[in-house]
Amino acid sequence: MEFTTLGRTGLKVSVMGVGCGGPSKVGKATGKTTEESVALIRHALDNGINIIDTSELYRTERIVGEAIKGYDRESIIISTKKSVWRSLTPKNVEKSFDKSLKSLGTDYIDIYHLHAVLPEDYEKVISETIPPLKNLRDEGKIRFIGITERFDIDFQHVMLQKALKDDYWDVMMVGFNILNQCARELIFPETTKKNIGTLVMFPVRLALSRPERLRQIIDELIEKDEFDPSDIDMNNPLGFLIHEGGAINLVDAAYRFCKYEPGADVILSGTGDIEHLKANIDSFSRTQLPDEDILRLKKIFQNVDSVSGQ
Ligand SMILES: NC(=O)c1ccc[n+]([C@@H]2O[C@H](COP(=O)([O-])OP(=O)(O)OC[C@H]3O[C@@H](n4cnc5c(N)ncnc54)[C@H](OP(=O)(O)O)[C@@H]3O)[C@@H](O)[C@H]2O)c1
Repeated sequence: MEFTTLGRTGLKVSVMGVGCGGPSKVGKATGKTTEESVALIRHALDNGINIIDTSELYRTERIVGEAIKGYDRESIIISTKKSVWRSLTPKNVEKSFDKSLKSLGTDYIDIYHLHAVLPEDYEKVISETIPPLKNLRDEGKIRFIGITERFDIDFQHVMLQKALKDDYWDVMMVGFNILNQCARELIFPETTKKNIGTLVMFPVRLALSRPERLRQIIDELIEKDEFDPSDIDMNNPLGFLIHEGGAINLVDAAYRFCKYEPGADVILSGTGDIEHLKANIDSFSRTQLPDEDILRLKKIFQNVDSVSGQ
């Protein structure tokens, strides 16, 4: 596994992270037992992955807590999140935080994010939460503060663009994938300039793991005039990526596309299937996709900024 530095946090993190949310929630949402989910996270840790992302909302913090028992806590970077749609009094923020600590079986959180903040809520949310978050950081209970967007609604990163004007954030979680690459212009140059660490979410999601969903999304994009069908074989829209010297399959292409994107530090991979996890670890050990494939992906999706791949 390769490692990188997560912006100004200085944390040394694996370029692949375990995502405990998304459609699978490490198996909690796909019929796996807690033991299977715990084994999946441990397999990731035993294969060099050192960053795990969860949240109070996913209800997978307990699974993470169980999985990390017996490991050196300091060798693991835990990223978790505070939901922002309920009351955000300092007391409520501290209560949520304490609950997360308890579920995770730890006494500190490496990266504590505000979860899925909408553009219209940004100012209110930060005015209410920054003071208690700073207190928790001063007490040594939070190492770094982060923020995540609602990429399934906020396709053009409007909230993160606001957040980039402030100096609160050590880490940002950004939606980016083959279909919607607009973070390349709208977010990564500024996070790089300000040395803010980035965690990429939605690298595969449903569009790049289920052919029927990809087809639906491409049809929508054609309707909206964001995509030129003459550019591809409509029977197998991204089939050109799979060839000798290229990607093994679309999921492999999706993770490798994100991994080599300048400005993208950690790519979060979400799965509840241990065989998928093993395949994904292999993808992260492969080289960049061929230049001509990357150029083609940049060209055919250059006008797309209205989907997340959900
Ligand atoms: N606003 C936010 O803060 C926010 C929002 C979304 C996500 N996130 C974070 O970002 C993480 C990553 O997003 P994500 O969970 O959507 O992950 P993802 O890696 O983009 O996609 C996960 C989907 O791909 C499938 N998949 C993964 N590997 C596969 C393989 N090798 N073959 C076939 N299918 C495969 C999974 O199903 P299987 O289980 O069948 O493998 C799942 O349906 C989340 O887990 C969460 O931690 C944060």
